[in-house]
Amino acid sequence: MKLVVCNLKNRMDSLEFKKYAEDLKTLDSKGNTVIVALSNIFLLSAPFGRFQLASQDITSLIDAVVTGEVTGHQLASCGVKYTIVGHSERRISKKEINIDFINKITEAQNNGIKVIYCIGETLSEKENGETEKVLEQQILEVLNNVELKDIIIAYEPVWAIGSGKIPNVEELDTTIKYIKDTLRKNYDLNFKVLYGGSITEENVDTFKDLNVIDGYLIGGASLKVASIQNIIDKISTN
Ligand code: PGA
Repeated sequence: MKLVVCNLKNRMDSLEFKKYAEDLKTLDSKGNTVIVALSNIFLLSAPFGRFQLASQDITSLIDAVVTGEVTGHQLASCGVKYTIVGHSERRISKKEINIDFINKITEAQNNGIKVIYCIGETLSEKENGETEKVLEQQILEVLNNVELKDIIIAYEPVWAIGSGKIPNVEELDTTIKYIKDTLRKNYDLNFKVLYGGSITEENVDTFKDLNVIDGYLIGGASLKVASIQNIIDKISTN
């Protein structure tokens, strides 16, 4: 059984979401854990179904009253069970750094929200042979400073996000094993590790033999419930 995390990002207006929410009611998780990360404005109108609610962000400003921020307590009160932290889009566009991730993870944990912590190398880091060094840094500099509970790692190479490019099978196998070994070596714990970046119903089969992958973080392909269903169907028959 895998984790299937759908990241809708800032897509859809309220009419589009209404239709999407209707479709979501029909989603059959087939025993997998399906998590849907919505814009905060849609959290309270999410339907009940065979999936868990996630937020795409959480405040890093613990115990502060700040305009525009959303706290872990607020998210939990809307039924949010997971939150995404460290997504490369926020590392790049919002200049979020390790201290933000440490605070966000702490805020989530303080409110019973599980964390999906995203890590991944850029194209130039990959080309310079720095992937493992970068991933190790992204792991240790954050996880050394938080409680080690309820954290799932999402490996998302920056060059694969929204690009239509995916790693080859051997490369991904090696990288995910490296991430798991690093976590085990440093913390003596087994973490779940997801892959994210340009996963679609057409290419998800590519990784069907990689038992090391505990699930997928899906962006663009999660905009249609039928596509999510097709991905679930494919990973469930493997
Ligand atoms: P993508 O996005 O599937 O559209 O590449 C993945 C992500 O950003 O989490």
